This record gives sequence, structure tokens and C-alpha cells, in this order.
Amino acid sequence: MSLTTIKLRRQRLAQLVENPVILFSGGAVSRNFPANRFPFRASSHFLYFAGLPLENAVIRLENGKLELFLDEAPPGAALWQGEMPKLEAIAASIGADAFYPLAELSEYTANAATVAVCDPNTYQYQCELFNRLVAPPMGKDLALVKAIVSLRLTHDEAALVELRKAAAVAIAAHQAGMRATDGAKTEAEVRGAMEGVIIAQNMSCAYGSIVTVHGEVLHNERYDHQLQPGDLLLADVGAETSLGWASDITRTWPVSGKFSPTQRDIYELVLAAHDACIEKISPGVEYREIHLLAAAVIAQGLVDLGILRGNVADLVAMDAHALFFPHGIGHLLGLDVHDLEDLGDLAGYESGRVRSDRFGLGYLRLDRPLQAGMLVTIEPGFYQVPAILTNRDLRAKYETVVNWERLAQFQDVRGIRIEDDVLVTPSGTEILTAELPNSVTAIESLLMVNG
Ligand code: GLY
Ligand code: MN
Repeated sequence: MSLTTIKLRRQRLAQLVENPVILFSGGAVSRNFPANRFPFRASSHFLYFAGLPLENAVIRLENGKLELFLDEAPPGAALWQGEMPKLEAIAASIGADAFYPLAELSEYTANAATVAVCDPNTYQYQCELFNRLVAPPMGKDLALVKAIVSLRLTHDEAALVELRKAAAVAIAAHQAGMRATDGAKTEAEVRGAMEGVIIAQNMSCAYGSIVTVHGEVLHNERYDHQLQPGDLLLADVGAETSLGWASDITRTWPVSGKFSPTQRDIYELVLAAHDACIEKISPGVEYREIHLLAAAVIAQGLVDLGILRGNVADLVAMDAHALFFPHGIGHLLGLDVHDLEDLGDLAGYESGRVRSDRFGLGYLRLDRPLQAGMLVTIEPGFYQVPAILTNRDLRAKYETVVNWERLAQFQDVRGIRIEDDVLVTPSGTEILTAELPNSVTAIESLLMVNG
């Protein structure tokens, strides 16, 4: 990523905030003993303005200028981690105007605003240094958070270059997953094939991959189920570039290579919702309306299949669609797979809006008018979640609008989701993940070619 872009971001921030800004990259977190650590992932706010994932580094921004606080690697590090670049070279690589050891940071915090970092050790150090709790943000920290949100909500060209790379690698991972399915016995084998593609590109997974024949468990973290011929395999796998930019794709395909008639019926209705949502995306459109459109298309499809009864508007108003589509239509995507979600709903929700407590809206992660340059996911789904469908209160509330006997005929559809990454453009949309097919025929022929 060019220094020109990063410096422009710093200048734009300087126009929005009055106070100096101090951002922490964080450090690697230990797993089971101190020296055995999870891979380091720098804070996204740090990455946005520094451009490089420096560990245990702090930047101070004032009037577009950057000061770096970082310690020289200890002498022993060369043995275990290899020779580290000198501080001067690191500072030059991020366009720092000056650099200091970390111990001097305490002399530079006066009037500064900061954003809470995710790693708990650094967060503690951060609170001690500022002598205040920095989460939730208040006062000047809140003003900074709002400024950062306004910058990161839409993507500059350099970010889009990275996001397109992440999308391309996730597409290749999904193709590999489809290729691997025919010979695989377990979910883990397909996951391995998919993540192998990401790792081979020197990227990492943007989040814990979901590769499961139990797609009704929305964030399923198990990979040990056997693949049976009648199963649908749901794969929600995304890549993250070395600079931290993410992609997020879900496809659902039949293990046997052919959708059953019931699987195909439901798949087609999820795809109809997906396509209708993307068709409607344009600057100025409310993302909540996109979500409600998905709800309406799914409700209509379920009425057509005889699973729901009644008028579609009434069904959506009473959240009947949420029995089968209980999550939001998607989220912001950028440096974080759920971009800026470390800030709670400060990014996802327009100022003055709060989460609904409605069954059908409570998991909506984004409630803002769309703007050109935003990248969002569109990910409608259909799930038969036992915890929902056997819930006594929900059963009672929706007893008459669900044809339970008819629903029982769709037992081989536990979970389907179709997810693409959609850039809002001045004239509509660009689907960054469009090269990965999603139609029944294209998926079946991909699986057939493989088989
Ligand atoms: N890809 C996982 C999610 O969007 O929650
Ligand atoms: Mn997603």
C-alpha cells in the first residue's frame, strides 16, 4: 500500500479531529504458555493509518504528522525470530516523522484521544497510560471514534486493491472446496482444501471458517461430521491479506453433486432473495430496507412452497420469516470481516439509531443509508434451527402461519446461505465475488466436472 494513500488518510483524520491521536497495534496473545502465541494480528485502526502490521507499536498522529513509539528488538530476538529491521528503517517504511522508544510514550499523551485495542494486555496498558477506561469511548475518544468511522465506512482505491485480492483468493478457496468434496469423507477435509489455498497465497483466514453439513448452526466451529450423500455442505470461508483486508463468502452445495428437489426449491428462494437485494443496492438506499426485502422474498417463497400461510407483508411484520432467516442480511466488510464491529454499533448504526428488539431485526448489523465506496455483504439464508423451531413460545406465536406437516417434507434442508461481497458504486453495485458461481446449474456442473 503506497505511503501516499496512508498519508492522505492521516491528513483526512487531522481535518476531523482536534486532539492528538494515539493508536496501539497490540501484541500477540499467548495460547497455553507465554512463549506459545496465537499469530499476531494488528489492530485495524492502527493498520488503517500505519499501513503495516507492526507488533507492540504505537503511533501518535497530530496535524497529519506521525510519531512512532516502538522498541528495538531485544538482542535475543535475532536467534528466535531472525534479524529484525532497524527502527529507522521501520519508521521510514510507514512514513514516520520521528520515532521514540515506548517508554517515552507517557510524555506524549497529554490531550490525546485513543481507541480501545482488542488485545487485553495492551488494553490494560492503554488504560493505565491514559489513566481512564477507554471503552466504551467517551468525550474526545468518542469524537475520534466517530471521525475514524466516517473515514473507514467507505474505501479508498488502495483498500479496494487489497479487498479485491482477498476476494480472489476466497473465490479460489471455494472452488477448491467444491473440487475436494467428491473425495472427502469429513468436513475437515474440505476445510483443509479451502484453507490450504488461502495459506498458500500467504494470506490468513479472515475469521474461523465454517465448513459444515449442519449449516443451521450459524457459526458452527466443528469440522468432524462425516459427509453423507444427501447432505448440503455450507462453507463460509474468507481470506485476509497480509495488510489485514478481508473477504467473506458463503456457498452451499450438495455433497452428492446434485441438489434434491426440496434442497433445490429452498436454494432457489434464498438465491432469489440474494439477487433481489443486490439489485436494490444503490447509494442512498437504507440497508435496513435491503434486509426487509430479503425477508419479504423469503416469506413469499415460503408461502409459494406451502411452508408459510398468509399475506407476505403481514408475515414480515410479525417476523415469521425470522423463524427460518434469523440473522441480518449482512454487514460492513473491510479491515475487519464485520468491519468496525470493535466499536459496537457506532459504525453499523447511523447516529441516533439503536438495535431493534424485534425477533426479525435484532441481529441486523448495519442500519445506515448506503454510500458509494461502502463494501457490504449480502447473505440471506434459510435454516431449520431446532432451538427456534422447538421453542414453545415461538411455536405458539407462529402455530397457525406455519404448515408444520409441509415443513417436515424439507428435512434434508438444514441450512443454506449464499453470501457475496458487494461494493456500492455511484451507479449501483460491483460484486467483488461475482466470479464464484451461485446458480444451481453452475454449482452442479462445477461439482460434476470435479467428480
Ligand atoms: N462470515 C461470518 C459472518 O459473517 O458472521
Ligand atoms: Mn458475513
